[in-house]
Amino acid sequence: MIFDTHAHYDDEQFDIDREELIDSLKEYGIGNVVDIGASISSSKAAIEISHRYDFFYAAVGVHPSEVEELNDENISEIIELSRDDKCVAIGEIGLDYHWPDPAPKLQQIWFRKQLDIARREKLPVIIHSRDAAQDTLSIMEEENAQEIGGVVHCFSYSKEIAKQCVDMGFYIGIGGVLTFKNARKMVEVVEQTPLERILLETDCPYLAPEPFRGKRNSSQYLPYVVTKMAQIKGVCEEEVIRITEENARKMYRLEDLWHI
Ligand code: NI
Repeated sequence: MIFDTHAHYDDEQFDIDREELIDSLKEYGIGNVVDIGASISSSKAAIEISHRYDFFYAAVGVHPSEVEELNDENISEIIELSRDDKCVAIGEIGLDYHWPDPAPKLQQIWFRKQLDIARREKLPVIIHSRDAAQDTLSIMEEENAQEIGGVVHCFSYSKEIAKQCVDMGFYIGIGGVLTFKNARKMVEVVEQTPLERILLETDCPYLAPEPFRGKRNSSQYLPYVVTKMAQIKGVCEEEVIRITEENARKMYRLEDLWHI
C-alpha cells in the first residue's frame, strides 16, 4: 500500500474533518503515514496523532522558519519527544532562504544542532531545503549526514543536486509538484533518480497534485502522483507503490519494529 512519508495532519486545516478523513485513508490505498513536526507544539501533536492511529508514525523537529522561538532548553525537549516509541525521525529541519527571516546564520545553527540530536538518538532526518541548496549540501557534508541518513523532502532542486544527495545515501521526497504543468525540473529528477531512492509524500495540507492544485491536499490524492511517476519510470503503478513503500520502511527503519 502507499506510504505517505510526510504529512501534517496536526494542521488546523484538518480541524473540521480530521478523524473522518484519516479513517477513510485505507480505502484510498494508503497503508502508512508519518506526521511531521515543524515546531515544538506541532511535534507534540504529531506524537499524539501517531498514538491515536496504529498506521501512523511521527517525526519531531523544528522547521527552519520556526527556529526564532527556540532556546537550548528546547533541545532536551526534542530529545525527550524523539524517544517516544512512535517517533521514527527528526524533522523537519533544514534551511529556508525564501523569506529574509529567520537569519540564515540562526537557521544553520539549529540545523546543525538537530542533525546532532538525530545522530545521537540514531534516527534519520527529514530535511527541508528551499532556495538554499549549496548551504544545505555543505552542512550535510560537514556534519557527516551520510552517517545519519534520511530524506530531502519536497525536493525542489536540479537533477545534479539530487544526485549529490543520493550519493550521500539520502532519499528524494516527491509529491504533488511532480504533476504540475511546469514540473520539467522535477520530471528530470525522477527520470534520473533510481526508484529505490525515491519516497512518496504529500506535505499535506500543502501542494495538492493536479487536478486539485491550490486546494487542501491529503493522502487521498497520492495516487495521482503514483500515476505520473509510473509514466515517467515506464513501470506499472503497483511497482511504484511497492518499491517506494519498501524504501520508506528502510529509511524509517521500520523493519526492526516488524520483528518485535
Ligand atoms: Ni512539511
